[in-house]
Amino acid sequence: MSTATIESHDATVQPEDYFDHFWETKPGTLGGRYLRQFWHPVMRSVDLPAGRAKPVRLMSEDYTLYRGDGGKVHLTVHRCPHRKVQLSVGYVEGDSIRCMYHGWKFGADGRCTERPAEGGTGSIAIETYPAEEYLGLIYVYVGGGAPPAFPPYPGFFVDGVVETYSAHFPCNYVQSYENDWDLYHANFTHRTGEIHGPAAGPGRTDFFMGMFKSTQFAETDYGIVRTMTVLGGMTNAAILLLPTTVRLLIPTFNEQSRHTGPSLRETYLIHTPIDDENHTAFLTQLVPVTGAAAQAYHAEYQRVQEIRKSRPSTLAMAEKGLAGEMSVADMKDHPMLVEIEDMLTQLGQGRIVERRGEKLGRTDNGVVFYRRVLARELHALAQGRPTKPWVYMNKVPEGTTTFS
Ligand code: FES
Ligand SMILES: [Fe+2]
Repeated sequence: MSTATIESHDATVQPEDYFDHFWETKPGTLGGRYLRQFWHPVMRSVDLPAGRAKPVRLMSEDYTLYRGDGGKVHLTVHRCPHRKVQLSVGYVEGDSIRCMYHGWKFGADGRCTERPAEGGTGSIAIETYPAEEYLGLIYVYVGGGAPPAFPPYPGFFVDGVVETYSAHFPCNYVQSYENDWDLYHANFTHRTGEIHGPAAGPGRTDFFMGMFKSTQFAETDYGIVRTMTVLGGMTNAAILLLPTTVRLLIPTFNEQSRHTGPSLRETYLIHTPIDDENHTAFLTQLVPVTGAAAQAYHAEYQRVQEIRKSRPSTLAMAEKGLAGEMSVADMKDHPMLVEIEDMLTQLGQGRIVERRGEKLGRTDNGVVFYRRVLARELHALAQGRPTKPWVYMNKVPEGTTTFS
């Protein structure tokens, strides 16, 4: 039996020495400083129409995100410098934002251009931050200095529809990212929904054990590539892109795949930290359909959205499950059962999982690999050394499973 290749760690660094920093998001903390070196998605593009402003919270700090009347997205501070009103309730005018309280207006570069009752601008300016859109998501960079390469990840290279989704997870982002490195969870977490493998019953456990045994991890200059042999000898590779992202091939995340094909999609799953105890899970998926098939898909998508709106949220369901008011079997007909299943386990670990005292086993090989890389990076930062400069590739690396 092959086992995971563990080759990416500094043997002098023990992951547990950094457990108290893994979950940190606040400015000035080790974990928060690490996260601030990267672009992060904060909203789906479709959730911010032109001329609208919304508040966003990222890594324990608040901001104002708005889309100018011409479509460009902007990120700036949370509060007006005059008397500290929340800017997101203000008025978007062109690419500027005007405070709702006394009308001070700030341009896209942050400079104050009007103070109606005062006259002049008082040489006042507010901080602004880089904001860009990619694969249906709005990304921002708040780390100061020059941002890293954008886009941060390779795109989708076949034609189709890009579909996005987001959900609030009231738990730390690291435990949800650890779940992405933990393939074996699918056997039991998703037993009721019967996805990610043969239906419950004979063969299901063998399928997951076979998958686990064939799993290999290798660190590259752009990320960590996980390769496994699945049924029929096919190779499936995913890329884990620190600090919050995985690119993989998964079934659609709602009931739609039961109605429209294909059922597997190229996907990015990203866990953006809101603060230490909350994150947003963003999904962006390529649906490889074009022309008439794309139109049919769109109609079916609208139908699924209506069903979804009529049902309690996944979080409301997960909270009932955690409170003991419902079992997962009671939730079987929910169109987002897969996500509820993942919430039950990840929220069920607590707001911030206590890693000390865990009893790790051989199926935790992916989690161990991730922790070693993260601890190595935090250790470098703690010592004042540069962290690994992950390289942006504008193509999908050789061997990654795609539709092309
Ligand atoms: S508080 Fe914003 S203009 Fe007065
Ligand atoms: Fe899962």
